[in-house]
Amino acid sequence: MSSQTVFTPGALLAGRRAVVTGGAAGIGAAIARSFAAHGAHVLVADLDPVTDRTFDPAAGGSIEAIEADVRTAQVPEALLAHRPDILVNNVGHYLRPPRPFAENEPDLWEQLHEVNLGHVLRLTHAVLPGMAERGGGSVINLTTVEAHRAMPGHTVYSAYKAALMQFTRSLAAEVGPAGIRVNAIAPDLIETVQVPYAELVPEEQAPLWPTWSPLGGPGQPEDVAGPALFLASDLSRFVTGGTIHVDGGTHGAGGWVPRASGGWTNRPLNP
Ligand SMILES: NC(=O)c1ccc[n+]([C@@H]2O[C@H](COP(=O)([O-])OP(=O)(O)OC[C@H]3O[C@@H](n4cnc5c(N)ncnc54)[C@H](O)[C@@H]3O)[C@@H](O)[C@H]2O)c1
Repeated sequence: MSSQTVFTPGALLAGRRAVVTGGAAGIGAAIARSFAAHGAHVLVADLDPVTDRTFDPAAGGSIEAIEADVRTAQVPEALLAHRPDILVNNVGHYLRPPRPFAENEPDLWEQLHEVNLGHVLRLTHAVLPGMAERGGGSVINLTTVEAHRAMPGHTVYSAYKAALMQFTRSLAAEVGPAGIRVNAIAPDLIETVQVPYAELVPEEQAPLWPTWSPLGGPGQPEDVAGPALFLASDLSRFVTGGTIHVDGGTHGAGGWVPRASGGWTNRPLNP
């Protein structure tokens, strides 16, 4: 590995080719725009059309889109024809309101598998040979804080996300010698359609944000785009098999919250 510094300002992804699944809204859309602003040619694969292509075009980036359901068995031809150096496996969802595992309909497990793990295996498997042939690449998997802690009511969702985190580690070890890096981002508390905190948190509860996360909240999709840009670019060229927690500190805090009277507790009296 060259010792030449990579900490140069300017476009971080000039000329790179990226695929972002679920890039029409939320976290995926912010990632697509930030990659394009840094010179990448981005292909978004989403059920919905891309409506916001707002990014600074100075670095020569672009955003194209195909309407695709990533759960289908056939990987879209256009996705492979794009010849990605970067794959962001962003689609993921808990699908149903929380419910005890004992009351689950078993067909829900298959649906959760497809939307959280199955398509990631399929797409990654399809793009890896091309990446290796072209000398390397970066795969970024969106997991969740609940891959690292419990999520009662969403046992199967959290199990598949944890599996995705382990897939990230093991694959990183396998494909590192081919110059392909594989990392995960574990978000929490990001304002999107999937988790619309503006609706979920009534105004009178807003002052409680600092007790829910050390950095307050909610976070915005752009807060995830920055770490994704880092993982996609050469800034992270010696980083693989890892997870960046983009959660305002909830994972690190591990349930500790500040007391109104000062100090901290992990046994809140009025949860
Ligand atoms: N928002 C958060 O706080 C949070 C927390 C934990 C994990 N995550 C993870 O981050 C990722 C993105 O989350 P988000 O909140 O931006 O999601 P979102 O649901 O708000 O947006 C997801 C996008 O994916 C598209 N999509 C959904 N199913 C698809 C399919 N089958 N094929 C193609 N496109 C599809 C949607 O049309 C949408 O554009 C997910 O993997 C999610 O599990 C988010």
